[in-house]
Amino acid sequence: MSDKKKLLHVLRKEQAGTIPFWFMRQAGRYLPEYKELRATTKGFLDFCYSPEKASEATLQPIRRFGMDGAIIFSDILVIPHKLGMDVRFEEGHGPVLTPLTSEKNLAALKLSSMVEKLEPVYEALRLTRAKLPAETALIGFAGAPWTLACYMIEGSGSRDFQKVRLLSESNKPFFSKVIDLLTEAVSQHAIKQIEAGAEVFQLFDSWSGVLSETQFEEWVIAPAQKIVAKIKAKYPKIPIIGFPRMAGMKYVEYTKYTGVDAVNIDGSVSLSMALEKLSPLCIIQGNLDPTVLAENKDAMLKQAKKIIDIFKDKPFVFNLGHGILPHTPIENVQALSQFIKSYSLST
Ligand code: CP3
Repeated sequence: MSDKKKLLHVLRKEQAGTIPFWFMRQAGRYLPEYKELRATTKGFLDFCYSPEKASEATLQPIRRFGMDGAIIFSDILVIPHKLGMDVRFEEGHGPVLTPLTSEKNLAALKLSSMVEKLEPVYEALRLTRAKLPAETALIGFAGAPWTLACYMIEGSGSRDFQKVRLLSESNKPFFSKVIDLLTEAVSQHAIKQIEAGAEVFQLFDSWSGVLSETQFEEWVIAPAQKIVAKIKAKYPKIPIIGFPRMAGMKYVEYTKYTGVDAVNIDGSVSLSMALEKLSPLCIIQGNLDPTVLAENKDAMLKQAKKIIDIFKDKPFVFNLGHGILPHTPIENVQALSQFIKSYSLST
């Protein structure tokens, strides 16, 4: 079955000269059918834990645009939630958590029952795999320990995550324990997703860009290296994509030391740097700017052509530099999908 899947071929370096594509946040609020389905469940996390609905949300963009990869509809914060934290999504505010600040809070988290409580996510993966076209690869994902710790300690999103950065320096033994627990939790969640049908795994480190070089080595590279090793020990053939967002030049160290098969690059990485420094080390995925996709169709198609022209002879996966924005016109996503399919055939 896997022989039909372009995304797997490219991520396993079995084939160059063809460009598979998918988009981060390809499911969600820019699609009217998602908004309609979403309206049937009040809480966002309850929606994520409804296997039929989560599976349907995963399939919606595939039906419209025919991406080569379907990312399971879930969220990175299901890990802190099922470790026992209080996690809520407030309309217009994003996630709100009761912050983790003490040894007592940490001791209350329970790793032993987490994967059992995450069963609805694995069920959504099984349902989705059964319904996906044979040529579409199913992608599982998790937030990386640093990014999860950002939300868990800060208690919400933040511009610079100052509270968690201060704590990582002022109480390093405590912070190390948080990161170690999350490293184990993420590894277990990844392995369960693979066992439920995920054929690719992406690790989102959305807030890695706020760290200094030393902190990046400790809190981003070292945990990712352990997670990759744990997954590869059991499932050596499952490709792993790392996304140390906004890491700029630190992408090079990340790529060298974590053992990921691919990295998703964002706007902090120039295409020439990616080509010269990253492409010899791993497969590149990325990096169209989601604001251009939302706002300017002509500029977007020009940028897409430039990206493909640079990477077309390498193993390359077309994606964005970050997730699709909720106000993005469907027409633009349609035009981009068509362009990637036809342009990569004609070159
Ligand atoms: O299509 C896909 O990419 C799969 C689904 C997916 C969601 N979240 C659904 C979602 C994925 C891969 C994520 C990852 C995620 N979640 C990240 C890492 C990627 C990134 O964006 O940096 C992060 C940091 C989160 C945490 C999170 N979840 C925030 C900060 C928010 C609020 C911001 C917002 O966009 O509203 C969410 C909510 C969320 N996750 C929504 C969706 C579709 C919106 C809620 C809704 O539709 O009701």
